[in-house]
Amino acid sequence: MTKKISIAIDGPAASGKSTVAKIVAEKLSYIYIDTGAMYRAVTYKALMKKADIHDQDELIRLLKETDIELKQKNGGQAVFLDGKDVSKEIRDTEVTNSVSIVAAHGLIREELVYRQQKLGEKGGVVMDGRDIGTKVLPDSELKIFMLASVDIRAERRHKENLEKGYPSDFAKLREEIMLRDKNDTEREISPLKKADDAIEIDTSSLSIEDVVARVVALARERIEQ
Ligand code: CDP
Ligand code: CDP
Repeated sequence: MTKKISIAIDGPAASGKSTVAKIVAEKLSYIYIDTGAMYRAVTYKALMKKADIHDQDELIRLLKETDIELKQKNGGQAVFLDGKDVSKEIRDTEVTNSVSIVAAHGLIREELVYRQQKLGEKGGVVMDGRDIGTKVLPDSELKIFMLASVDIRAERRHKENLEKGYPSDFAKLREEIMLRDKNDTEREISPLKKADDAIEIDTSSLSIEDVVARVVALARERIEQ
């Protein structure tokens, strides 16, 4: 039987993590786990319930009674919150601009890290986020840290919005990405940080296919070891 490894992909917003992770998972017949979607789902629920996103106790009570499920659907991944598909809603600007505040609470991280570790315990997963290599799967056989300049990342998100027919303002997107990166790298608990044994890939001038090929080659080396 071929060995099933775990692949951890971390990096700042719009560096290409989820796009690459999804394709790599498909190529290896692994499960893709988008941990950002879990932080987004709880943030969405908190906003819907008009909870105070700065109040950790209120949020953890809410999260403990919340079911978040990631389901493979039409070649992509759908996010179910208490049984309802909220894949689209969790990408709203209001959620995007609040999620790093929710994700900074220690108790919220503890609970979601526990759920993510359960999902990844059997291996055969590609998981992306901010603390996968450092905290969630510290023993994963392959850790990738993805980077790209802020201008390129904002440009990619801008293009993505326009393609979907959503309104988009490049300067605003760039500001929002910079603020989220700052919150994610400067928070006290599990900040966004390259694990010592992670391999850095700067995707600024690489196509999606180039990055996928590189990650799959690194994965195969480890699977065949
Ligand atoms: O796709 P994008 O890069 O915009 O973000 P995401 O992966 O959906 O993550 C949304 C937010 O959740 C991040 O900005 C972090 O604040 C938080 N997050 C985290 O703290 N830890 C993770 N493992 C994943 C996401
Ligand atoms: O998951 P993360 O926030 O890191 O980024 P993403 O949602 O996978 O990628 C953001 C956008 O950049 C998507 O529209 C991708 O198609 C695009 N992208 C790209 O143009 N070139 C790459 N090498 C990687 C991603």
